Amino acid sequence: MRLQKYMAKCGVASRRKAEEMIEAGLVKVNGRIVEELGFKVDPDRDIVKVNNKVIRLEEKMVYIMLNKPVGYVTSLKDDKGRRVVTDLIEGVKERIYPVGRLDIDTSGLLILTNDGDLANKLMHPRNEILKKYIAVVEGTPNRAELESFRNGLVIDGRKTAKAYIKVLKRFESDSILDIRIHEGRNRQVKNMCEAINHPVKKLKRVAIGELQLGGLDIGNWRYLDDEELLYLRSL
Ligand code: URA
Repeated sequence: MRLQKYMAKCGVASRRKAEEMIEAGLVKVNGRIVEELGFKVDPDRDIVKVNNKVIRLEEKMVYIMLNKPVGYVTSLKDDKGRRVVTDLIEGVKERIYPVGRLDIDTSGLLILTNDGDLANKLMHPRNEILKKYIAVVEGTPNRAELESFRNGLVIDGRKTAKAYIKVLKRFESDSILDIRIHEGRNRQVKNMCEAINHPVKKLKRVAIGELQLGGLDIGNWRYLDDEELLYLRSL
């Protein structure tokens, strides 16, 4: 990018004014004064100083909800060449990344953003944000199993926090459960269901706090709306 354009994009001055500043010797790239108009900089690599202060591109904050399909890795890239969730998001130039993780065989609500503060707030255990899952499990948990799930189960030597579980539908060989937890341990829902002897066959996340997947089609994404952004800011 041409230096004066970069300066303008960083909000330093108009392009014309930026050119004057360059010619006046006020601008350094990687420690050297550059007086040449049109000098090319790489915004990701070069350090540009104006009046000895580093300038940076202000990225617009973006907040995206994706309905993640099974078969996608929650990551920006994958060593094994598998598909990753950001493959599904086209036309967004900001550098977004997923907030938290869904297993490759889990589908549903995933938030992606370039707002690191928000990512921390949503994931920090202190905030106890409920994540709601719909799970298909083998068999149907009985009353005692549901009770122990609700009270917390010891997994990897540590007890899980109290959780919500309800049987929504029972079939002959499996059942559909509504599960809500606020912790975010690895494979937590699967491990908890396994611990009460009802392994998960299918898992989908449908809500994170007040953010609901609603009717978003599988593999599709959308920007969060104003109401959802207000909710996030209130955290
Ligand atoms: N719990 C799991 O076991 N897997 C997920 O992907 C999310 C929660």
